[in-house]
Amino acid sequence: MDTQQAKERIDFLRSELHKHNYLYYVKAQPEITDYEFDKLLKELSELEKQFPQFYDPNSPTKRVGSDITKEFAQVKHEYPMISLANTYTEGELRDFDQRVKKILGEQPEYVCELKFDGVAISLKYIDGKLVQAVSRGDGVVGDDVTNNIRTIRPIPLTLHGNDYPKEFEIRGEIFMPHSVFESLNQEREEIGDAPFANPRNATAGTIKLLNSAEVARRKLDCYLYYLLGENLPYQNHYDNLQKAKEWGFKISEHIERKPNINGVFEYINHWEKLRKKLPYDTDGVVIKVNDYSQQNILGLTAKTPRWAIAYKYKPEQVSTELLSVDFQVGRTGAVTPVANLTPVKLGGTIVKRASLHNADQIALLDVRIGDFVYVEKGGEIIPKIVGVDQSKRSLFSKPISFPTTCPECGSKLEKPEGEARHFCPNQYNCPPQIKGRIEHFISRKALNIDGLGEETVALLYNNGLVNDVSDLYRITREQLLSLDRFAEKSADNAIQSIEKSKSVPFPRVLYGIGIRYVGETTAKGLAFHFGSIENLANASIDDLLNVEDVGERIASSIKDFFSNPINLKIIDNLKKAGLQLNLSENELQLKSDKLKGLTIVISGTFNRVSRDELKELIQQHGGKNVSSISASTSMLVAGDKMGPAKLEKANRLGIKIISEDDFFELINSAN
Ligand code: IVH
Repeated sequence: MDTQQAKERIDFLRSELHKHNYLYYVKAQPEITDYEFDKLLKELSELEKQFPQFYDPNSPTKRVGSDITKEFAQVKHEYPMISLANTYTEGELRDFDQRVKKILGEQPEYVCELKFDGVAISLKYIDGKLVQAVSRGDGVVGDDVTNNIRTIRPIPLTLHGNDYPKEFEIRGEIFMPHSVFESLNQEREEIGDAPFANPRNATAGTIKLLNSAEVARRKLDCYLYYLLGENLPYQNHYDNLQKAKEWGFKISEHIERKPNINGVFEYINHWEKLRKKLPYDTDGVVIKVNDYSQQNILGLTAKTPRWAIAYKYKPEQVSTELLSVDFQVGRTGAVTPVANLTPVKLGGTIVKRASLHNADQIALLDVRIGDFVYVEKGGEIIPKIVGVDQSKRSLFSKPISFPTTCPECGSKLEKPEGEARHFCPNQYNCPPQIKGRIEHFISRKALNIDGLGEETVALLYNNGLVNDVSDLYRITREQLLSLDRFAEKSADNAIQSIEKSKSVPFPRVLYGIGIRYVGETTAKGLAFHFGSIENLANASIDDLLNVEDVGERIASSIKDFFSNPINLKIIDNLKKAGLQLNLSENELQLKSDKLKGLTIVISGTFNRVSRDELKELIQQHGGKNVSSISASTSMLVAGDKMGPAKLEKANRLGIKIISEDDFFELINSAN
C-alpha cells in the first residue's frame, strides 16, 4: 500500500468508525457487530502506526464512545463502568494467564462465566431498595434509565433477607430472549418498521425508549454478574454472587470456579456448541480472578481491569462465491439487496442467499460480484455477508450497482433523510407492495382470512382478480374455480373465510388496512378513541396526538393515509362490502356514565387490570382517557411505578390523584 492509498483508507476508516460510534452510542441503532467494529478499529490502529504522519488527536482510536443521548438525566458513575479486554485466540488467553501469575507470584483461582450479549447496566441499592439504574454511557457518565429498568421483571425492586450491605451497586447485562425478539420483529415487519438486526440491538433500542410502558411490553431479561461496594459479605467474587442470588438477583447457573487456565479452556470448549441451545445470545466467556485481594494487586489499566478478560467465540463463518444480487421490494417499498451465493453449509443449514442490508453496507464491505465473501449467522434471521476475501478477488469481479429505479415497477427510488434504505414510492402500482398489503390484510392478527395465503394472493393478483384489499370481497366462486389452484372445496373454503372476515371487529380491520406505523396496539387505541373510521379520517393532527402512544410520526402517517383518494375509495368499498368500520353497539355500549365529562390520565402499572383494560373501562364509563396531564385534566389514576414527572406536574397543577382502588370504587358505586 502506498502513502496515498493509506491516507485514503485511513480517512475512510475514521469516518466509518465515527459514524458507527454515533449509531451505537448516541442513536442506540448499531448497524454492525462489535466484532466488525473491532476489526475496522484494529485495521485503522495498525495503519496509524505504520503511517504516523497521519496522526489525528480525534481519531476513533483515541476515543471509544462518548456522546450520550440527551433525553435522560445524566449520572456520573460512582465507580467507572470499565469494560473488558477481548481475546479471540487460545494464545492470547494463555498470555493473560502468564501476566496474572507473574504479577501475583502464584496461581489464582479463576471464575468462568458466560458473556451475555446484551447491554450493560449498573443498579444501585440502598437499604435493600433499587434507587437508580444507569446505563454505561461513556463509562464515566451514563443515562439514568431507572424508570425503564424498573419494568424489567427479573430485577428485584426490594431485596430478600437482611444481610445485604446498606449501600452497594450491582452490574449486569440486560438482554432480549430469542422468543421475545422474534415476535417483536414480526410485529415491526407487520407495521412497516425496520426489524432489529439482532437481540442486542433490540435491547439497546428498548432501553433508550422514553415510554417505559413500551419497555415493559418488550419483556427484557437481565443477569447480574458484578458487585461493588464497601461492605460486601465475602472477600471473593464467586461467594458474593451466590449471596446476591439469595437477595433475589438473577445470577446465572453457569458460573464455575476453575483452579487454572486448563480448567478455563474446558469451560470454553464445553460452551462453544452448547451455548447455541440457550434461549438468549452469548458471544464468549468472561474469565475473572476470584479473590478480591488478588484483584486489587492486579489493579486496572486505563480502560480495563487486569484481573479479568473476555474470550470471544468467533462467529461461525464460511467463505463462498457471490454469484449475483437481487433487489427485493417489501410491502412498505423498502428495497433490500440480497446476494445469491454458491450454496454452502453453515451452522447446520445450507445457505444460498444472504442479506447485504443497504447501499451503505455494500460500499463499506467493498463487495463485488464474483468475490469470495465471508458469510456469518449471528442472531440474525437471514445470514449476512461480513467481509470479502480480497486475496481471491479476480480481475473479472464486477462492482454491484445499486439500482436507481425500482426493479419491480421502474419508478425512481427515493432515500428519505435519516434512512439507510432506499424506497420505491409507487405504492399503488408496484406489484410486491400491492401483494404485501393484501398479505398483511389477510394475516392472522388482522382479518384472519385463512383460506388464502401468500401464493394464492400472487395468483389472484397475477390474474387480475385483486389489486387492493377491497377486491377480495368481489371475488366469486366461479372466478376461483377458473384458476388451476382451486378445486370445489378449496374455493368454498376461501369464499367462506372471506365472508367470515366481515364480522372481524373494527380494531383488527383498522390494523389490517395497513396504515404505516399503525401496529396492532395503536390500531386498537385509535379504534376505541374515535369509534369509527369516519371520525378517524376526520381527526386533526392534534386530535390524533391526544391518543396514547400516538406521536408525530404516527399522526402524520394517518393524515397522509386519509388524504389519499385511492385509500378513501378502498375504504368506501370495504364499507359497501359490509366490513366493521366502527365499534359495534356492544363495544360502544357504555357501562355507566359515572365518568361522563371527565378527562382522565393514567400512570404506572395496575394490579387488577392491564393499562389497556383500564383505558377501556374509562371509556366504557363515559370518561375520556388522554395521555398527558394539562390544566383541563380531571384526575390522575396513579398505579405502581408511576413516572415522577407526571406526579410532579399533577401536583403543580393541583390535579386530583386517585389510586386504582379509588377508581374501582368510583365506577362501582351506586348510580
Ligand atoms: S464483568 C470489570 N461479566 O461484556 C468487569 N461482563 O466487554 C465488568 N458482559 O462491560 C464486566 N457478560 O457489558 C462481565 N459475565 C459477564 C459479562 C460481562 C457480558 C459484558 C459487559 C461488559 C462487557 C465487556
